[in-house]
Amino acid sequence: MTAPIAVYPGSFDPWTFGHTDILERSVRLFSRVVVALGVHPTRTPLFNAEERLELLAQVCGSYPNVAIEKFDGLLVDFARSVGATVIVRGLRSAADFDYETQMTAANADLCPEVDTVFLPAKLGNQFVSASLVREVARHGKDVSRYAPKAVVEALQRKYAR
Ligand code: PNS
Repeated sequence: MTAPIAVYPGSFDPWTFGHTDILERSVRLFSRVVVALGVHPTRTPLFNAEERLELLAQVCGSYPNVAIEKFDGLLVDFARSVGATVIVRGLRSAADFDYETQMTAANADLCPEVDTVFLPAKLGNQFVSASLVREVARHGKDVSRYAPKAVVEALQRKYAR
């Protein structure tokens, strides 16, 4: 049986090593992984959608079975449009679990044929989040332990202004 296609959605504002860990494990589990940049109409991100897509291309572009796409509607509609039957989400904490189970229930209600799989953050990554990376970088501290070089440099450029 061929492994299913998965969508790995997120805001990725910015991408961190936590995301890298989840992606690297996902590519071993699924035949193809679509990294899906969700664009919230009401949120003001640090990096706009084009900047995040550019960063995604730099940090995920070299995986052979990974595609990068942007979506601005419902996640389940996007998943269906790319033939994915699995949504991958990383879990760091009990707080994540509460939020993610709600989102999973909503997505399952909207589209029962697309299932959600949770991958636990690897040990040492439980506190690594995009908001932590933004906050630490905003105060001029080194975030190279938390995010790839391309992201670290983009943050330096952003906060140098
Ligand atoms: O990195 P994030 O902010 O946790 O990613 C959230 C994202 C983009 C996956 C989520 O907000 C999302 O799926 N948005 C699309 C709208 C949607 O389908 N919402 C869930 C059902 S109401």
